[in-house]
Amino acid sequence: MGDEVELTRVIANLVENARKYGKSVKTGVTELDIAARERDGWVLLKVRDHGPGVAEETLKHITKPFFRGDVARTAATGAGLGLAIVDKTIQRLGGHFSLHNSSTGGLAANIRLPSARP
Ligand SMILES: Nc1ncnc2c1ncn2[C@@H]1O[C@H](COP(=O)(O)OP(=O)(O)O)[C@@H](O)[C@H]1O
Ligand SMILES: [Mg+2]
Repeated sequence: MGDEVELTRVIANLVENARKYGKSVKTGVTELDIAARERDGWVLLKVRDHGPGVAEETLKHITKPFFRGDVARTAATGAGLGLAIVDKTIQRLGGHFSLHNSSTGGLAANIRLPSARP
């Protein structure tokens, strides 16, 4: 599978999660910020929603295969594999993937990949 296809799948997973779990508390609609920049030979990608985020103690578990939050188990469909695949894919591409709660609310995903430019 090409890097492009894999990267598309990564972004699709994050956008789909934002759509399912990252709805803004006030409006019930997902607002998503996506940003990309290149610096020092790395491409930095940020995908961030304005939803409730994830409990701090849960954060380290959500990239494990088959882990799903309470809301996910009762409401949305999925297998709990999306973020595990995202994490593995980014590692395979020589990059780094991390998740944190934004200080102003919402879950923020950070992806760092080696730049293709020489
Ligand atoms: N943007 C998000 N906001 C809040 N919780 C999230 C978000 N993305 C993922 N999660 C939590 O992480 C869990 C794992 O996500 P994922 O691996 O994509 O599995 P799935 O989407 O099949 O539930 C979800 O079940 C949900 O509890
Ligand atoms: Mg998912």
